[in-house]
Amino acid sequence: PETLTVQELANRMSERAVDVVRLLMKQGVMKKITDLIDADTAQLIAEELGHTVRRVAESDVEEGLFDAPDAPESLKPRPPVVTIMGHVDHGKTSLLDAIRQTNVVKGEAGGITQHIGAYQVTSPLGGKITFIDTPGHAAFTAMRARGAKSTDIVVLVVAADDGVKPQTAEAINHARAAGVPIIVAINKVDKPEAKPEKVRSELLQYEIQVESLGGETLEVEVSAKARTNLDKLLEIIQLQSEILELKANPDRPAEGTVIEAKLDRGRGPVATALVQRGTLYQGDIVVAGSEWGRVRALVTDQGDTTPEAGPSMPVEILGFNGAPEAGDRIAVVENEARAREIADYRTRQKREQAAARAVVRVSGLEQMMS
Ligand code: GTP
Ligand code: MG
Repeated sequence: PETLTVQELANRMSERAVDVVRLLMKQGVMKKITDLIDADTAQLIAEELGHTVRRVAESDVEEGLFDAPDAPESLKPRPPVVTIMGHVDHGKTSLLDAIRQTNVVKGEAGGITQHIGAYQVTSPLGGKITFIDTPGHAAFTAMRARGAKSTDIVVLVVAADDGVKPQTAEAINHARAAGVPIIVAINKVDKPEAKPEKVRSELLQYEIQVESLGGETLEVEVSAKARTNLDKLLEIIQLQSEILELKANPDRPAEGTVIEAKLDRGRGPVATALVQRGTLYQGDIVVAGSEWGRVRALVTDQGDTTPEAGPSMPVEILGFNGAPEAGDRIAVVENEARAREIADYRTRQKREQAAARAVVRVSGLEQMMS
């Protein structure tokens, strides 16, 4: 398969691309600087120019990332990471907003979540809780698909005036598949037409039996609007998380997950990330997906810069060369060369996969036409 461009090959050897083109031409291969060449040709050219070639497999490149478990004695308690899920308009953002006592909803276009926010608050019992708001379940699925278990608890928001809806069921399935405990928050109980009892019985159909019906699932009736029972929700979350005994090693190179990323006009690529183990420092070299960079600044959910971010802390990372994708896993590596190697490798992987998909699509089309 054709895996890298002439330019990339030249870069890797610190040779001029025109020299590579010339050498290719000598071999009877006509390529432009931006053309792709296959690995065998690349090796031939590299050896011709006196370089030693080391072909790296995924296992080599990714070695040491994410795999090694931390020694039990290195683990320290960490805050729970809570994802708010539920049907459209059931009040996920309002609830989170009420908890934070800020006003995210008003700032959003049409009150619809434009992006995932991640925030940390302190529960009345004193523990910290990290919240992630989802615009849908796609991000959650993406994160899970990439093997990053980024959520410890799901708060399932169900509007008491609307009941269990398709996306409520979807959220239940996602939480189940991820093996994450669910806490039910029956929202909008301030509304005269609210029927929390109906929500409870509807949930039975999905094998969720809340405590008040004799089951084990923790529940709370809330109103984001009237600010009812918000402290109780936080207490329940903390109690649930204490049962889970969540721990991580803060004293190691950081690893985490990209929650969202964007290209900010003023600040360049900005990745909102959740640190999952280790501590991330300003100045660290990070890789996420096929992007890498040196951490120029870390910004908290309050908008303050911070020199470091430990386990379960959501933080904005400035300094990536390009915007990574939601769900990409982040790792700190020892130096820029290593970061570049991993990022380059993944770029090529992506290209190969895209090429393979294109071939499948074309052959599918041919089949349809014949
Ligand atoms: P999406 O992000 O679009 O899926 O919606 P969401 O679940 O985040 O819902 P959002 O917080 O945007 O709230 C939807 C609507 O319900 C808004 O008009 C809120 O003002 C209203 N709402 C949310 N919580 C409550 C509540 O407790 N009581 C009442 N009466 N209205 C609420
Ligand atoms: Mg929302």
